[in-house]
Amino acid sequence: MRGIILSGGSATRLRPCTKITSKQLLPVYNRPMIYYPLNTLIKAGIKEILVIVAPERAGDYLNLLGSGREFGVKFTYEIQDKPRGLADAFIIGENFIDNESVTMILGDNIFEDDFSEDIKNFRGGAKVFAKKVPDPERFGVVKFDENMRAVRIEEKPKEWLSDFALTGLYIYDSRVVEAAKEVKPSARGEIEITELHNWYLSKGELEVAQVKGEWIDAGTFDSLLAAQVLAKEKLQEKLII
Ligand code: G1P
Repeated sequence: MRGIILSGGSATRLRPCTKITSKQLLPVYNRPMIYYPLNTLIKAGIKEILVIVAPERAGDYLNLLGSGREFGVKFTYEIQDKPRGLADAFIIGENFIDNESVTMILGDNIFEDDFSEDIKNFRGGAKVFAKKVPDPERFGVVKFDENMRAVRIEEKPKEWLSDFALTGLYIYDSRVVEAAKEVKPSARGEIEITELHNWYLSKGELEVAQVKGEWIDAGTFDSLLAAQVLAKEKLQEKLII
């Protein structure tokens, strides 16, 4: 199992704080934000982790994270020169993935749950994680049938579809690289990760599990504040780095 942490983008919603640094390097209580998703990967025993960053911030990431030896893992770095979408990570990461399965986590997603068992027990297809939220229109959204099986997934639906958002943690088998190459850009000009979920869903190979604990996408000032509180009150004793 390989790991990817996607930490690109320009985070215009957090200006001026992100004018001189990357969102995922901002402090969340007593650690840089990226430490939280990194904990999720490292705790699950993933040893090889690709860190995808924006070109103007690459040096900062290298200074902060280094080779990974300090954490008992190996970091590889790649540049995403434009925010072309989440699915682009699997095209950038093709050589790194090298026909293995891959867990991707977004550099601004902070979870209370431990996903070690999901990652260690993954055997193929795709597994993604949903959480009921008050503002589903901000996210990829999944609609379930009465047996809680996923029937439809849409990126930021304009009309209400369901209250279940898809969080920024994704486990795929190695076919994800081929699937990503088939995705056409959306209206916002990005190759959406939602298309990858739909690729697996149409084959009957998508599993959607539910997140039990808290989950925060720390991309806005309010969610960043909530992340600080979560980190201080609930995450400290769970962190290994
Ligand atoms: C991205 C994904 C979306 C997902 C969200 C989780 O949204 O496109 O499907 O629900 O991350 O944080 P974005 O941050 O690109 O708006």
